[in-house]
Amino acid sequence: MTLGLDDKHNIPFLFVIFGGTGDLTKKKLIPALYFLFRSGELSDNFAIVSTGRKVMTEEEYRSAMKENMEIYAGENLDESVWNSFCSKLYYRTMDFSVDQQEYENLQAFLIDLEIRLHTQGNRIYYLAVAPEFFGFITTHLHRHFMLENKSSWQRLMVEKPFGTSLKMASELNEEMLCAVPEENIFRIDHYLGKEMVQNIIAIRFCNSIFESLWNHQYIDNIQIISTEAIGIESRGGYYENAGILKDMLQNHILQMLSLICMEAPVDLRPDSVRDEKVKVLKSLRLFEEAPNRSHIVAGQYGRGLVGGHEAVAYREEAKVSPDSMTPTFIALKACVDNFRWGGVPIYIRAGKCLDKRVSEIVIQFKKLPGSGFFKEFAGTAPNVLVIRIQPSEGIYFHINAKKPGIQFAIEEIGLDYCQTCKYTNNTPGTYERLILEAIRNNPSSFTRWDELEYSWKYVGSIESALDGRTLDYPNYPSGSRGPKEADDMMESDGRSWWR
Ligand code: BG6
Repeated sequence: MTLGLDDKHNIPFLFVIFGGTGDLTKKKLIPALYFLFRSGELSDNFAIVSTGRKVMTEEEYRSAMKENMEIYAGENLDESVWNSFCSKLYYRTMDFSVDQQEYENLQAFLIDLEIRLHTQGNRIYYLAVAPEFFGFITTHLHRHFMLENKSSWQRLMVEKPFGTSLKMASELNEEMLCAVPEENIFRIDHYLGKEMVQNIIAIRFCNSIFESLWNHQYIDNIQIISTEAIGIESRGGYYENAGILKDMLQNHILQMLSLICMEAPVDLRPDSVRDEKVKVLKSLRLFEEAPNRSHIVAGQYGRGLVGGHEAVAYREEAKVSPDSMTPTFIALKACVDNFRWGGVPIYIRAGKCLDKRVSEIVIQFKKLPGSGFFKEFAGTAPNVLVIRIQPSEGIYFHINAKKPGIQFAIEEIGLDYCQTCKYTNNTPGTYERLILEAIRNNPSSFTRWDELEYSWKYVGSIESALDGRTLDYPNYPSGSRGPKEADDMMESDGRSWWR
């Protein structure tokens, strides 16, 4: 088993969703399953069983999901495909957080379906619920023998955040491991399913011009940027506890960082790759020392203009405290203390309600010392490689060359590969890929417990560094580039953020 997916189309299974009426199910899970079904990736012997507290009939659920598909899949919805897909979509009203009886009823329903559809006992339970319920649901699935059918497989897919601190995440992990082995827990980080994040390994290890230079001798700095123009939307309750550190940094950003910084794995098996990623996370310098602590800039958005529309301040959002101290922006200088990366700063910038949505990784190479000896070369820019993750996917490489003409002058040239332009709509969506990987038992795009452990440790050190600091929130207007201190931090290092 390696990074890619093999061609097994015929695996029978039931896909059981906890949180069947929630946003994630509507926006991501049902559309992803529909597209997988439409492209023939799923076996004929499969069904989706959605559960939720809302009392509704199967017909009502199906038509609610169809309405959502019209919003989220738009013109891609094919009526006849939808009708066949719908015949495989079931809904059960169930309160997963209280009653033993509820699990017994669900188990009886699933067994009956399994017999009728010949799904052989294979099940994926998708926990699209708040993390405080992960432990309870897993324990109850275990108590009702819903996780231990020896002649088949049962896997759990869990959304992030996995816990809210190292302590809670460890407790949750122990609780889950009592019910299900590590290899059957698929912890989602949807960034790992993004095409250009998967591409990092190819770009690094298939190109001698990059791999040979990928270290402290040739790289001046790395920037990992993930900014969003949207605010927290209707997720005030969740975001108050998460903030930018747990919503983006602990997971998506540290995952990208570990892929960018890891050593070449011995092969491309999921565990070989994860072994290397863990070493990077373990080498991250914690923010324990005083000088190191000044390398963090936190922020929270105030009112402002986003795309010409007035946006409210974070503290005015629903379910947010009017004097909330939750950060919605973070910029920091990370250091990976190992032989490859010693001395190379890794700058991270992420936030909500900023001027634009962009995720990219910028590798800035060192300037050639010799270029200073020729006056004609004055002002040449260092080479830069940009891995563009979104909104458009691609690779940008910045080099210097002679400007055509009689003068010997240098100009900067951008070699720009737009992957989105080449493969219009031809790449699978993130959730399609992740669901398919779980069905085919390929954990390469999911996080292993030890990766989480070290990420939480790192985030904990940032929280302690921020603790007790006087922060004057809000400190950036919506629609801006974020707090000025983030630019100052770069400037004091003699650098600037990639444009
Ligand atoms: C989610 C966060 O994990 O990622 C959201 O909870 C964030 O707050 C989202 O908006 C960003 O994902 P993407 O794929 O739109 O970059």
